Amino acid sequence: MTDPQPKMIMVGVELFTENFPLPADVYTRLPSGQYLLVGKKGEKSNFQSLHMTAQKKAELYVRGADYDVVIQFNLALAKTAVSKTEIPTNLKLNLITGLADSAINDLVDRKIMAGSYERVKQLSGFIKDTVAQVSDVDKLLDLLSKLPKDSASHGMATAAISLLICEQMEIQSKPTLEKVALGALLHDIGLKEIPDTILKKPRADRTVEETTHYESHTMRGVEMLQELREIPSDVLAIILEHHENAIGMGYPRRIRDVKMNPLARIVAVANYFMELLHDPTGEMQAKTPDEAIYYMETTLGQPFNKQVFAALKEVVFAHRRV
Ligand SMILES: [Fe+2]
Repeated sequence: MTDPQPKMIMVGVELFTENFPLPADVYTRLPSGQYLLVGKKGEKSNFQSLHMTAQKKAELYVRGADYDVVIQFNLALAKTAVSKTEIPTNLKLNLITGLADSAINDLVDRKIMAGSYERVKQLSGFIKDTVAQVSDVDKLLDLLSKLPKDSASHGMATAAISLLICEQMEIQSKPTLEKVALGALLHDIGLKEIPDTILKKPRADRTVEETTHYESHTMRGVEMLQELREIPSDVLAIILEHHENAIGMGYPRRIRDVKMNPLARIVAVANYFMELLHDPTGEMQAKTPDEAIYYMETTLGQPFNKQVFAALKEVVFAHRRV
């Protein structure tokens, strides 16, 4: 029995490819609430052959401090996997499920959603199935694997939050939900081409040229995805407009709510909320969900679509009232 750091994050078994060394210590949680070490860093993974996720109780956890390492390892592996044609696509898609599970479990950990095992699996399964349906799925996985640090996880979390907002807004059309999930997952794909020196610089410190370069990730993302077959135009609109807002103060076109794509309005809110929780540039402290809502509503004066923002608030607060 061990007593690791108090903050533990639940991760999907798919993150640990069979027979690959574990990038961090892995634990399971006992009914008593204690964590038991089930795999040591460097040992070969055998969770899948042990059927560790066959039962609800066998959830895997890593220390909060190791979470990033695990995600980075997974991304590196995905990068290798997607370049190998002999690896079947469905195996590569397991990596997507792993990333989705982890991002969604992080939302559960932050108490943004109620976290039954089935609920997490339902959401991550929907995202994986959506990716699997893309005509050029191998090319898409290749693009995803080349995203900069944290962006893939951010995309997954934004997709999950966007789907929860849709649920709150009673949007039930499957094709619509698929477009929202795909657009949210890929919204920052254009960041792949923005140098780290700009990405890590606080916004206020960027030169005009650096700001313009950074903001071009919206258009560049659209260009990159146009190379894939049959990406719906709504998905491209989400990518182009994910930094616009209702009052016309966003970018790249500074369009107002009424001119925005309806699905982009949803992802724009989800994206902003998730950015506040993770603070990618380190300029402000990462916020708790409640602080993020307060910041969007009071400090910023709620510049987003009213209906979508109200739905986000319901998502964040609703299950705590039960
Ligand atoms: Fe972005």
